[in-house]
Amino acid sequence: MGEEYSIGLVFVWPPALLLLVVEIQTQIDKQFSLLAVDDWTRNPPEVARGNYRLHLKTHWVGQQVVEVHPFAKDLTFALACRLLLGIDDEEAIAQLQKPFGHFSAGLLSLPIDLPGTNFRRAIKAAKELRKEFEVMIKRWKRDRSPSQSQGILSQHLLELNEEGQESDMATRILALISASYDNVSTAMTFVVKYLAEMPNVYDAVLREQSEIAKAKEVDEPLNWDDIQKMRYSWNVASEVLRLHPPANGAFREVITNFTYAGFLIPKGWKLHWNAFATHKSPEYFPDAGKFDPSRFEGNGLVPYSYVPFGGGAHMCPGKEYARIAILVLMHNVVTKFKLQKVFPDEKVIGLPVLRPAKGLPIHLYPHQQL
Ligand code: HEM
Repeated sequence: MGEEYSIGLVFVWPPALLLLVVEIQTQIDKQFSLLAVDDWTRNPPEVARGNYRLHLKTHWVGQQVVEVHPFAKDLTFALACRLLLGIDDEEAIAQLQKPFGHFSAGLLSLPIDLPGTNFRRAIKAAKELRKEFEVMIKRWKRDRSPSQSQGILSQHLLELNEEGQESDMATRILALISASYDNVSTAMTFVVKYLAEMPNVYDAVLREQSEIAKAKEVDEPLNWDDIQKMRYSWNVASEVLRLHPPANGAFREVITNFTYAGFLIPKGWKLHWNAFATHKSPEYFPDAGKFDPSRFEGNGLVPYSYVPFGGGAHMCPGKEYARIAILVLMHNVVTKFKLQKVFPDEKVIGLPVLRPAKGLPIHLYPHQQL
């Protein structure tokens, strides 16, 4: 199982993930997800028009305090449902999100299938979700129509025109949404955390985003050119991803002996490459603990020193999706609100995914009140 690398490594999945997602041997089909994600990145205005405004309006406008992490999870899930699956109905999204939360919590758990364990709950949730997705896929096939409201995956699955493969397709959908869910929501949460903690960074992001907003009509959605102008904002997000990589790395299996830093790494070993440690290397990132978005100006990064999205043959195909999702959130948040953390010393906890211990509650101050 897995794809080979020229230096003698092969990609492997952690055990729980393997059992839950890849049990029918189909790995996540990279071409499939690449096509889907490319389509989406060509059409970012949909995002600004739909979920972001709606979410900020219903969850932030009029509120004094919001919990950013749960909000980011809801937003990420709703985005995936809307953009990938074409589901708009909030109730339908909420119904899927509950089992999805169990599934996601079990992905990086110990694969112990006993009552009360995260793993057992995740198996149950995965079955439930697959069943839901299978029904959905059958409906897409039955109603086959080039409706604008359909999601990217639904359209793509129809284009593939695979007969009778509903269970495979359902697994692909599950795998793709889960690949985005925790990572994107964690990245969004830490971006907002730094914006709330660093007034000078916030001000510079606000300047950039205000210029973009000023050049548009009221309520005119963001477009691809606007996203390209968000250079400083993306440097900020990149620095956040360096200090808090949401995916801490991945596994590889050694398929031929090789030497690394003077050590012989024998065939058959399993390796974990670690983004967190790599990003803290003083060799590649001077004063590595310092938050400094200017590191990303110019072309100064050494290849494979900055790996929040991995690298090589299995590099994350959702990178552009994530970039746009994060930038559009930054735009909408800073142009509307000033932010202040409720708990200035809120701890960050790990295992399995880094997150602020109390969900990052923040005070919101709408700009007109400043
Ligand atoms: C901030 C957000 C994200 C981060 C930090 C992230 C990070 C990663 C990392 C580290 C890997 C492993 C790469 C490797 O082994 O070299 C990966 C793989 C993957 N990601 Fe992401 N990801 C993010 C968002 C997304 C999104 C939005 C999607 C889909 C819509 C996605 C889909 C995938 C898929 C399908 C793979 C497996 C690729 C393969 O095995 O060939 N990711 N991601």
